[in-house]
This record gives sequence, C-alpha cells and structure tokens, in this order.
Amino acid sequence: MNKPSSESWAAYYARTGNRPPRRTLLVALNRFAADPGSEGAKFAIDLGCGNGRDTVELLRRGWSVLAIDAEAKAIEGLRQRPDLPPDAKLETRTVRFEDALLPTADLVNSSFALSLQPPSAFPATWQRIVRAVRPGGRIACQLYGVRDEWAGDPTITFFTRDGIEELLAPLAWELMDEEETDSVTPRGKPKHWHIFHIVARKP
Ligand SMILES: C[S@@+](CC[C@H](N)C(=O)[O-])C[C@H]1O[C@@H](n2cnc3c(N)ncnc32)[C@H](O)[C@@H]1O
Repeated sequence: MNKPSSESWAAYYARTGNRPPRRTLLVALNRFAADPGSEGAKFAIDLGCGNGRDTVELLRRGWSVLAIDAEAKAIEGLRQRPDLPPDAKLETRTVRFEDALLPTADLVNSSFALSLQPPSAFPATWQRIVRAVRPGGRIACQLYGVRDEWAGDPTITFFTRDGIEELLAPLAWELMDEEETDSVTPRGKPKHWHIFHIVARKP
C-alpha cells in the first residue's frame, strides 16, 4: 500500500480535518505553558498543515502561525474552516517544506508530515528547522520508522531508533514515543504503522 496521492489527500482532509489536535502538539503547548516567563505572543510554523487541525488549535490559543503545505487544497481547506478565530494571525504558503523559507519560530510543528520527503532531502530540511527554532523553542513531529508498511517508498524518509536518537542528540527530548501497531489509515485501509512521536526542546 502506498502513501496518499495528491488526489487522495483531499479525502484525507475531509476525514481528519475536524479531529482534535495531535498529542505531540498538546505536549509541546503544555511545556511552553510551564516555562518560566511563558506569557506573551508566540509564533509557530506548521509544516504539512493539512487543513489545519493543529494550526487551528495554535490560533485559538493566540499564537501567530505560518502554515505550510505542498497541496493547494490543504491551504484552501484551512482558509475556509468555519472555526478559524476571527482575529487569527495566520499566514499560509503552498510550497514543499524542502523549499520553504523558515523564519525564526518558537515552535516548528509537523504532524505526520515531515517524513514525507526523500532521504536525500531530509537532512537539509531538518537542519533548517533546527536553525529556525529559537533557543528554548521546540520541535513537535512524527517521523516514520523502518518497519512501517510504507518502508521502501523512495519519497519517504524512515528511521531506526538509533537514527532518531542521533537526530535528536543536539536537542533535549521531552517526548519520544515509539509506536508500532496494526491499524487502519484515516481512509480506512489496514496498515502496519511504525512511528516515532517526538517533542524536543532546543537548548
Ligand atoms: C498525513 S497529512 C498530515 C496533515 C496534518 N498535519 C495532520 O496532522 O492531520 C500530511 C500533509 O503533509 C503534506 N505534505 C506531504 N509532503 C509534503 C512536503 N514535502 N512539503 C509540504 N507538505 C507536504 C500533505 O500535502 C499533507 O497535507
């Protein structure tokens, strides 16, 4: 089974867009709330935002958000959400994250998206993300593991646990859950998942 094509992302957005925010985002937000001197405006980049289940949560909490997705339909769906706060501080860009300019941010969030680039591109994207996060800021994301059913797809980057630990070595992990399970995709197809759920703080 393959990852969704451009056409089937639309079905994915329809099924998942109204679901609650991802746990990784909520863990990161709780950590920010617990930081000393945490009040004040904050800025997040949501990479591979889809139609915005995480972006909307950030906006509701008063964050400014730059939401990025390769699919125009994702950005359209986000812009048309009825639950966007009226005073939303939202900027959007339709661009692949490998090519996106990333301004300095408190948080780079990328739920179930960041692995969706070829292994040759991943290291440079990751370096740009780490550079974009301000000291004390965070990265929240999922990355695919080598035993995921999609392993072997050259457009996706997969990690061993050692690979994840190496990637996160310069950061302080706050969450690193390895999940391996047989379940179904949001479009109802059976799939073996191997996923790392990550929240890490830049020292
Ligand atoms: C599985 S969806 C996740 C959407 C949302 N973050 C969520 O948690 O529901 C992955 C999203 O990443 C986007 N995407 C995939 N590869 C991308 C890339 N290289 N650059 C930018 N966006 C990408 C897709 O268009 C899709 O909207």
